[in-house]
Amino acid sequence: MLLTVVCVQLIWGLVGLRESVAQNATGKDEWWRDTFIYQVYTRSFKDSNGDGVGDLNGITSKLEHLVDLGVSAVWLSPIYASPMVDFGYDISNFTAIDPIFGTIDDFTRLIARAKALKLKVVLDFVPNHSSDTHPWFVKSVQRVKPFDEYYVWKDARIVNGTRKPPNNWLSQFQGSAWEWNDQRKQYYYHQFTARQPDFNYSSTALQEEMKNVLRFWLNRGVDGFRIGAINYLIEDSHFLDEPKSSSASFLPATDPNSLKHNYTVDRDQNYDILQAWRRVLDSTNGTRKVIMTEAYTTPYFTMKFHQHGSNIPFNFNLIRNIKLSSGALGCKGVIDGYLNELPSGALPNWVVGNHDNRRTGSRLNSRWIDQINMIAAVLPGVAIIYNGDEIGMIDRPMAWNETLDPAGINAGPLNYKFKSRDSARTPFQWDNSTSAGFSSNKKTWLPVNSNYKTVNLAIQKTQPYSHYSLMKKLISLKKNPILRNGTTETTIVHYAYLAIVRRLQNQSPVVLLINVHKTLVRYDIAAFINAPDKMTVYAANSWANISVGAQVDMTNFGIDGYGAVILI
Ligand code: GLC
Ligand code: CA
Repeated sequence: MLLTVVCVQLIWGLVGLRESVAQNATGKDEWWRDTFIYQVYTRSFKDSNGDGVGDLNGITSKLEHLVDLGVSAVWLSPIYASPMVDFGYDISNFTAIDPIFGTIDDFTRLIARAKALKLKVVLDFVPNHSSDTHPWFVKSVQRVKPFDEYYVWKDARIVNGTRKPPNNWLSQFQGSAWEWNDQRKQYYYHQFTARQPDFNYSSTALQEEMKNVLRFWLNRGVDGFRIGAINYLIEDSHFLDEPKSSSASFLPATDPNSLKHNYTVDRDQNYDILQAWRRVLDSTNGTRKVIMTEAYTTPYFTMKFHQHGSNIPFNFNLIRNIKLSSGALGCKGVIDGYLNELPSGALPNWVVGNHDNRRTGSRLNSRWIDQINMIAAVLPGVAIIYNGDEIGMIDRPMAWNETLDPAGINAGPLNYKFKSRDSARTPFQWDNSTSAGFSSNKKTWLPVNSNYKTVNLAIQKTQPYSHYSLMKKLISLKKNPILRNGTTETTIVHYAYLAIVRRLQNQSPVVLLINVHKTLVRYDIAAFINAPDKMTVYAANSWANISVGAQVDMTNFGIDGYGAVILI
């Protein structure tokens, strides 16, 4: 076992070496290194025209907020023409702006303003599927060449005279992944809703179309892409049934987790396609282009993206693997596990939130909001935050009849709460005016969280220990040379404290200390982590009850329960 681990690491090491040589040659223009990247969920950031849905002009009007924060880039969730079945992730024209978000001229103005503010703009690229209203799909149904092969079509299986889907594959959004089309007299495959047919990447014409989509937006000045659902691009060509998973016996047969996705997820050729896109981006002039990839998968398949052109293969460990029960030991395990798996030379990244997951304060609890932000800041590499993370927004629970997300609706009234992503997608809370300053309209596409009178940006700007004030300090700390170049140690101090220590030779370290206990505990931390006897508080959460700028005696260190401090 140990031997295999060593061998695997050796192989990773070698592959990593090749990559890091290539990166070092151009490393200087990797503007995303040691920065925060900020995700805007377009529908929920800022509504400029009072229709209750966020839009491009709204985003442009608020770019200064991102400059104040100090993030390097804004990633926009889909802005393209869409029937909005999956709220923009079902695209009917990859090179047009949806009228609800504005026009291409609005987009041009957004890019110009961002450039003037030295903010990079990253777009969402959704290459796994289109909307069923996309003209390509309409022509595919009609078997017009070459569109006939743009999607995954299969004949029905006839069992005892009745029509059945070609195999047992299940959609991520519940039920068969196959939908019958009565016009073409075949089933088409859809990993997500039936209104989102999957593309067939064995069509070279389709491959070219998608490269042209990238070129279209690159020519309009974007600085890179976040590629969604990239591990679903390719399906095995034998179309065999997938085996049942170990949880099959206690899940409904319609639940995708009841199958082992041997033939539909994480296929090798996904990585070849990514490399082809990398080449498209690299042959574009101007600033270096970033690729961020989204794949909820194992460490092995995540790390593999590093060698195939992704600069930021999203690391969802902070979201998926830190639990309330983790304790200092569990947190250390999650952090070390990821860092140890990284190929040498590869850039780490830490995703704090996004539109597909519950927010920190609701997934864990409100005491963890700052702590997770601080962990992402102090660890090496890029942090990716979601709009609202900087003010500690929490989920707004939804009733069944308020549910809009297809992932929730398809799960039905009993289970929608476990699957719906609506609660984390509510409008951004700017201030305490109508609809939290998001819209002049009292009615917004998803309801505003009722806590907006106390949780909003305007108030938090006036509070020195707010989530916002802390986040600003964290973002600026990323640029500190000790964080950029220092070593990383994670230590557990008497089970009460998780310590992350960043060190550069001959310099005083940067130390994050998180009290995971309910009460104050005191220790000689200086000796334990080899830190100076006296350190200064650079930042603290409100639970720590300690002033920024205060001198701390590290030989007798103690902060209140759930407190977290960064010391320099
Ligand atoms: C991406 C998006 C998610 C969407 C899915 C299917 O993973 O993040 O919101 O539902 O693609 O389109
Ligand atoms: Ca609007």
